[in-house]
Amino acid sequence: MTAFDIEEAQTELHQANPRKILKKALESFDTIAISFSGAEDVVLIDMAKRIRDDIKVFSLDTGRLHPETYRFIEKVRLHYRIEIELITPDYTVLDPFVKSKGLFSFYEDGHKECCGIRKVEPLRKKLAHLDAWITGQRKDQSTDTRQDLPEVQIDSAFSTPDHSLIKFNPLSNWTSAKVWDHIEAYDVPYNALHERGFTSIGCEPCTRPVLPNQHEREGRWWWEASHKKECGLHVDNIKS
Ligand code: ADX
Ligand code: SF4
Repeated sequence: MTAFDIEEAQTELHQANPRKILKKALESFDTIAISFSGAEDVVLIDMAKRIRDDIKVFSLDTGRLHPETYRFIEKVRLHYRIEIELITPDYTVLDPFVKSKGLFSFYEDGHKECCGIRKVEPLRKKLAHLDAWITGQRKDQSTDTRQDLPEVQIDSAFSTPDHSLIKFNPLSNWTSAKVWDHIEAYDVPYNALHERGFTSIGCEPCTRPVLPNQHEREGRWWWEASHKKECGLHVDNIKS
């Protein structure tokens, strides 16, 4: 495999459609995986399967997802006949945290600590074994944190001095409406919570449905300011 030229890829993929970005990602890297949250980002799996049969998919099982999301992850596994690696938190860190602070400390002192243990550190361990990862982030998900989201980037949060990690965001230029067009057109399975007013779906205690005119991420960590609504998976979106 030849070295990946990030600047060349950024120029080539500027304003590109998801399929083109995914194709570039899957052709450029063998050690690459889709990070699947159990929500609308299922379209990534649907598109990727049409490009390459042996796609790798993982999901961060925080232990706090909705029952509907677990059911949905299983549905996707069976529908596409793929393995979905469920990544769980390190219990040696989680146990003392829950013992000392209980199950809902994030309502008191913010989501950072719990997300750090249940999502970010498990993700860090996973990404150490990958050269690139694929996310379902879109620019239109947040005018506070995702408006400049590139199609491909060096992951500044999870790269290390010895290991440069590439992050692809194939849905970057798509709107939610386009995602749903694709879901309908190709009969893609979707999370039942979407029928009950949930737009952006994360952990159960930190996600609530939104009203028709509310922005989709207003139901995530609703007790916190909108510029803080990144859990640490995509901390490179937050400008200092
Ligand atoms: S979050 O940072 O606020 O939680 P969001 O829910 O918008 O992220 O999802 C954006 C992308 O992050 C998803 O499309 C997916 O690629 C990744 N992601 C978020 N949550 C998870 C999860 N639990 N497991 C795997 N990937 C996830
Ligand atoms: Fe914890 Fe909420 Fe973050 Fe899930 S979203 S890891 S429950 S703080």
